[in-house]
Amino acid sequence: MVELNLPKNSRVQDGKSWPEPDGARIKEFRVYRWNPDDGKNPQVDTYKIDLDKCGPMVLDAIIKIKDEQDPSLTFRRSCREGICGSCAMNIDGTNTLACTKAIEDVNGPVKIYPLPHMEVVKDLVPDLTNFYAQHRSIEPWLQTTTAEPEREWLQSSEDREKIDGLYECILCACCSTSCPSYWWNGDRYLGPAVLLQAYRWLIDSRDEFTGDRLDNIEDPFRLYRCHTIMNCAKACPKGLNPAKAIAGIKKMLVERRV
Ligand code: SF4
Ligand code: SF4
Ligand code: FES
Repeated sequence: MVELNLPKNSRVQDGKSWPEPDGARIKEFRVYRWNPDDGKNPQVDTYKIDLDKCGPMVLDAIIKIKDEQDPSLTFRRSCREGICGSCAMNIDGTNTLACTKAIEDVNGPVKIYPLPHMEVVKDLVPDLTNFYAQHRSIEPWLQTTTAEPEREWLQSSEDREKIDGLYECILCACCSTSCPSYWWNGDRYLGPAVLLQAYRWLIDSRDEFTGDRLDNIEDPFRLYRCHTIMNCAKACPKGLNPAKAIAGIKKMLVERRV
């Protein structure tokens, strides 16, 4: 029988337990910590917060921890209202946005980790370099051969509706980092977020590079690693369905062959 061992430096250890504040509604937060500069293994630190002195969302809690207890805690955030996608992390076992995840929706201690299967820059910050490069590779902008119009390009209501469920994507990467195919082949498989973005431009009636775009994605790895496992649709905090968009791309490829 094959025995697999994780490398020593990947084992997550118990970390520091921070002092408990006074208060009637104390909630525990267990947060993944890793500092590339101290040579230590990752650890999980425990913080306690009085919910009567904290906003309702998980992001409010980690901002409070950083402000009042541990300024070294590192995470990304910007808009605080589910628009920028920067605060994506794994909370209570699910990839989601910390700013729209209510603390009261988590029973027991709130466990917070970075998005899974990505390199970690520090603490809750994943390295999204490859993810953004993949996004760039699908050329996510309108491309035309026709001369530049003098006014905005009009679209019928029906054509406009085709990008509903696609344009709302905030590129948070919750879907791609919940996709088993992306975990194992993230260097070559584009993953659900980038493929949803690709479909957004393929289906846009104003774009005139559909053929080139399809050529660019028609590849056993870039596209066909999707096995319709559907984790992506479950994970999306904006309620989008990347698996459906991927099916749409595959359908376009079949249609252009006949
Ligand atoms: S449906 Fe495709 S993209 Fe979505 S999680 Fe499954 S394999 Fe990944
Ligand atoms: S499809 Fe949803 S989960 Fe995936 S990147 Fe876009 S908003 Fe995030
Ligand atoms: S801070 Fe912008 S989506 Fe959460």
